[in-house]
Amino acid sequence: MITVFGSINLDLVVSLPRLPAPGETIVGPDHQSFAGGKGANQALAAARAGARVRMIGAVGEDAHAGPALANLEAAGVDLSRVRHLEGTTGLAMIGVAPDGENLIMCASGVNARVAADWLEGELSPETFLVLQRELRAEPIREAVARAREACAFVLLNAAPSGDADLADLVDSVGVVVANEIEAAELGIARGAAPGSSADAFCAALSGPERLSVVTLGPRGVIARLGQNGWRVAAPRIEVVDTTGAGDAFVGALSAALDRGEGVPRALCEGTAAGALACTATGAQTSSPDAGAISALADTLTCERTTAS
Ligand code: RIB
Repeated sequence: MITVFGSINLDLVVSLPRLPAPGETIVGPDHQSFAGGKGANQALAAARAGARVRMIGAVGEDAHAGPALANLEAAGVDLSRVRHLEGTTGLAMIGVAPDGENLIMCASGVNARVAADWLEGELSPETFLVLQRELRAEPIREAVARAREACAFVLLNAAPSGDADLADLVDSVGVVVANEIEAAELGIARGAAPGSSADAFCAALSGPERLSVVTLGPRGVIARLGQNGWRVAAPRIEVVDTTGAGDAFVGALSAALDRGEGVPRALCEGTAAGALACTATGAQTSSPDAGAISALADTLTCERTTAS
């Protein structure tokens, strides 16, 4: 069973001719609203990939709460621990450029009031706990401590970047997943030289019993566990919107590891899900199901990069 402790947002998405520079206004034709939030996106991705998933987080008592939870509900995610608090549901304003790149501004709303004691009674050695950094640092830190105490397995997704303060938490988790910016941020905080390669940052985040994974966008992923290294090249796809690709990767990787797949297959399934998630607008719309993930993962190769 996967438990996701994280953020739930409503995303307002505008397609733009290009992303704005600071101080600039860029006009797009229209906006669309989608369910989002890194925690919710990852919970949905894991459920669509076939895992049993419980979401722990919060929405407000406002009109955005229902749409923010609709996909999770439809996918059978256990929402009984999602609290409805007085206040506003998290909101993300997202601009998407024609090449699929995005720019995201987020208002936490009630995500800022999610507390680690909501995990009381929810953690056991059977729990696969998935965390991101979109909640406040304090509950994330406490969640990891509680998980350790309960002997639960923890996957920490380092997204979003901007808080190297949590770099020490890496030592307490079983898997850490970061993109290149996040891997550099955490790697430097853990002693790697600024300007190091993604491989070096990946090594700085790994350990004898800790899998580190660095996602490289169109270049695929690299991973390290002790002396073992892997690389998966990304499949060629028509990119529409990269929003939520990292979340789809984390959800599918978690689902694969939770059902006992080895690292190479789990990396291929994560890579397949991340790629497929780029093929439509919206973080959750294009989150693929188990059949699509498996079919694309079968075409990918996970190459060994270091001798064991
Ligand atoms: O990772 C993508 C997500 O980041 C969006 O859904 C948005 O809500 C922000 O949390």
